Amino acid sequence: MSEVRAIAQLGAEVLRLRAQEVQDINASEMQETISDLFASLASTNGVGLAAPQISASWRMLIIASRPSARYPYAPEMEPTLMINPSFECISDVQEKDWEGCLSIPGIRAKVPRYTFIKVNYTNAQGEAVTQNLDGFVARVFQHEYDHLDGLVYLDRVENNKDIISESEFLKLIATN
Ligand code: NI
Repeated sequence: MSEVRAIAQLGAEVLRLRAQEVQDINASEMQETISDLFASLASTNGVGLAAPQISASWRMLIIASRPSARYPYAPEMEPTLMINPSFECISDVQEKDWEGCLSIPGIRAKVPRYTFIKVNYTNAQGEAVTQNLDGFVARVFQHEYDHLDGLVYLDRVENNKDIISESEFLKLIATN
């Protein structure tokens, strides 16, 4: 049975730890974490969730890009589980764009991220996968990946003036 878990909020120690590598995805604790991660993300309007955000300090994340009121320009994709992910940029190009985080409600900020990346991970079936990601999905990956290293997107903000309230953000995208 999967359980919707509370989302760890900024200040919680688990968000500042380096999460541990997953050794055995078939271990019952891992299987439970995986199903709770899917259930917890589905209960929100987020486009990604990392295991530390449900207080499970393991290197796994889900990306589930879909258009919503929060992210009207997001492409549609199946929720994808990535275990022990890694990535490299395949070009130096970076873009600055808006991000938000379920662990930091009420805030949005502009953050630079690589536009074109190549990711490696183990999928839910235990297979090694290599995939190129770009644009919004690459951004979501890099945001979630940071959670595995104890970082949050505010750590990447270049100027405090790039941080705004969610209500101002919603006004901003309504006029664009
Ligand atoms: Ni986040």
